[in-house]
Amino acid sequence: MRISLLYIRRRLGLRLSIVTIDRLSAPPPLVDWSGVPTLILALVALVMAVTALLTKTVDGKRPTRLPGPPALPFLGSRWLFWSRYKMNKLHEAYEDMFRRYGPVFAETTPGGGLLVSIADRTALEAVLKTPARRPFRPPTEIVQVYRRSRPDRYASTGIVNEQGEKWHHLRRHLTSELTSPQTIQGFVPELNNICDDFINLLRNSRRSDGSVVGFDQLTNRVGLESVCGLMLGTRLGFLERWMSGRAAALAAAVKAHFRAQRDSYYGAPLWKFAPTSLYKTFVRSEETIHMIVSELMEEARLRSRGAAQDDPLQEIFLKILANPELDMRDKKAAIIDFITAGIDTLANSLVFLLYLLSGRVDWQQRIRSELPACGELRIEELSSAPSVRAAINEAFRLLPTAPFLARLLDAPMTIGDYRLPAGTFVLAHTGAACRREENFYRAGDFLPERWVEPREPHAPGLLAPFGRGRRMCPGKRFVEMQLHLILAKIIQHWRVEFDGELDIQFDFLLSPKSPVSLRLVDW
Ligand code: HEM
Repeated sequence: MRISLLYIRRRLGLRLSIVTIDRLSAPPPLVDWSGVPTLILALVALVMAVTALLTKTVDGKRPTRLPGPPALPFLGSRWLFWSRYKMNKLHEAYEDMFRRYGPVFAETTPGGGLLVSIADRTALEAVLKTPARRPFRPPTEIVQVYRRSRPDRYASTGIVNEQGEKWHHLRRHLTSELTSPQTIQGFVPELNNICDDFINLLRNSRRSDGSVVGFDQLTNRVGLESVCGLMLGTRLGFLERWMSGRAAALAAAVKAHFRAQRDSYYGAPLWKFAPTSLYKTFVRSEETIHMIVSELMEEARLRSRGAAQDDPLQEIFLKILANPELDMRDKKAAIIDFITAGIDTLANSLVFLLYLLSGRVDWQQRIRSELPACGELRIEELSSAPSVRAAINEAFRLLPTAPFLARLLDAPMTIGDYRLPAGTFVLAHTGAACRREENFYRAGDFLPERWVEPREPHAPGLLAPFGRGRRMCPGKRFVEMQLHLILAKIIQHWRVEFDGELDIQFDFLLSPKSPVSLRLVDW
């Protein structure tokens, strides 16, 4: 500190003498800028001093600096995503940074804050096990800004982005139906129908050699049909051979919505200062989703008027709408958020699962041998096919569509030599940790058998495709059931083959690059 103050004093003296000489030869400027560099230096010194004081810990030691990419003033280390790395390959960027800086490193945000990435097993287990009462998952700022600008539509920023008591209120009143085993069990017959319609759509889309081009579009449609079916209690026709323009518009808007969130976070933050094309794209996607889901809700509401009150298919939608504890705007936003959160996640997971399984014909045969030949699948039949669950777990281990979880630390945490203060923004890279050799036997290989007979090393606690703790995905139970059913039904009919490698990109979620083609070959 003493060195910086001396330096500033010397600069101050020098600056004064230069100003004096200038004044002798030139007319005085309209605005005197001469003191500005000095002022900036003084401010920097002040910020450094305050930061140094604030980061002093109770025992008088300062936290050791974490390794990480170099930071530039005002840009932090974000510049990396505009030069060294590609934004749509963020998963590869993080793999590269873990190689360069080790399993715990820090990026610097444009505001000067720390963003700590963790792929170390002990540290991850510590972060994931911390029993926060109201876990703080940093909100997506662009969603917050937009929703706050529309109080006519949104009473809050929604369950995905709210924090603290407001989040807890929404979570308590909105998700109990969705997470209840009874709701999902009651939905199994309808899920069977949805899967049968999906199989029919696949059959009609297959060419003579069994190839299905644009498979990802079809998985999006089954995602839409099942999530809307569950939430709105009605079938919407997304699996009919020719999809309506409305379904296509909803699917495209959900994709644009995720991409805009990714770009708002990792791209230049210009949208915060002016309505850039990125912000406008985001608003358009949000408005399209709002409009279409509102129409679907209204149609479902009209249809449900004469229906029996105890129809299990109608439970979630009607119970949310009937709950007096919630603002109508929150109810609508929740249904929108559930549908948005559920479509691509389900569709991407299904593509990854089939892609990985295509390399293991023996495992496909094993699944087939554990299932009845055809017909409706009941929960008991799925439970007696452990190879289905093993394949799903293994696909989530190698290619989770949500490869990391974001949290603000509730309490200070020590990781090796590093001490992270409460409030530190942490990315828990469960996906990267699951691919490390020290955590899983032959970590890079798709080996579903590890979930039937584990081989050491084996760290199942790192598998968290739906997150952890109280903010865990409320759609988990439903998605697991749906993936089990779809996989089982596809394998009942066909063997899955895939040529070459799947191109994977980061659209805020890990997603297959469109269009995806695979072959469904008769057994
Ligand atoms: C394969 C499908 C899915 C995956 C992999 C997935 C994954 C996730 C993950 C990782 C989180 C963050 C959890 C955390 O921070 O601990 C999350 C949150 C959430 N998911 Fe899912 N999800 C899927 C499907 C769904 C579905 C179908 C729905 C709704 C029907 C849904 C609704 C939500 C909601 C509302 C949240 C925010 C919860 C909160 O903050 O309290 N998700 N999901």
